[in-house]
Amino acid sequence: MGWIGRALMPRLVDAACGIGAIAAQRRKVVPLAAGVVVEIGIGTGRNLPFYDGDRVRRLIGVNPPDHLTRIAEKRAPEAPFGIDILLESAEAMSLETGTADSVVVTYTLCSIPRVEAALEDIRRVLKPGGRLLLAEHGRSPRPGVARWQDRLTPAWKLVAGGCHLNRDVKALVEAAGFGFEHIERFALERVPETLGHHTVGIARRR
Ligand SMILES: C[S@@+](CC[C@H](N)C(=O)[O-])C[C@H]1O[C@@H](n2cnc3c(N)ncnc32)[C@H](O)[C@@H]1O
Repeated sequence: MGWIGRALMPRLVDAACGIGAIAAQRRKVVPLAAGVVVEIGIGTGRNLPFYDGDRVRRLIGVNPPDHLTRIAEKRAPEAPFGIDILLESAEAMSLETGTADSVVVTYTLCSIPRVEAALEDIRRVLKPGGRLLLAEHGRSPRPGVARWQDRLTPAWKLVAGGCHLNRDVKALVEAAGFGFEHIERFALERVPETLGHHTVGIARRR
């Protein structure tokens, strides 16, 4: 992909991930992370300002080597805790079982190719009793919107880094062996629901 993949795409993704309505969703869950935190798909590090430095001991960001993490590495020194970035996929992490007190995943379950395998590995690295904190867009419960999400996803994936519009986040997380202790499902205002249907919540290993 050359210059586009190395320089332009990371900036475009960073700008898209930085909009205010998305920041408001991050603020609901990221400050709850505590102890050793694993962030799946750390990307450009847009969650870093939202962590509570008094609660986080260490942050491990997991992301495939796709140039986004270069921006995260520039943001990392501002954080009041140590950050390690692992350039690998969430489907098969090298982390030991039970590494994490909290796992954070925001706007990433849509893009992971084998999302069921990733959720299985997230469950493995999360300590028993640990919390999965998530903010994701996905499938609308409204059948008419979901039909459009199914139609648009094949083309959308090609232009949006593998992003699926039509994944049912709640069902995927529950099927992976988590139970939600808090969940909000809603459509963002002023955003087409095909893209803006959200699931924001806190889940624990069952
Ligand atoms: C839209 S970006 C979101 C980045 C960041 N989580 C945020 O909230 O700003 C999607 C992220 O998913 C990551 N991703 C894609 N496939 C992945 C995989 N197999 N494992 C982990 N992360 C993946 C991408 O590299 C990218 O950082």
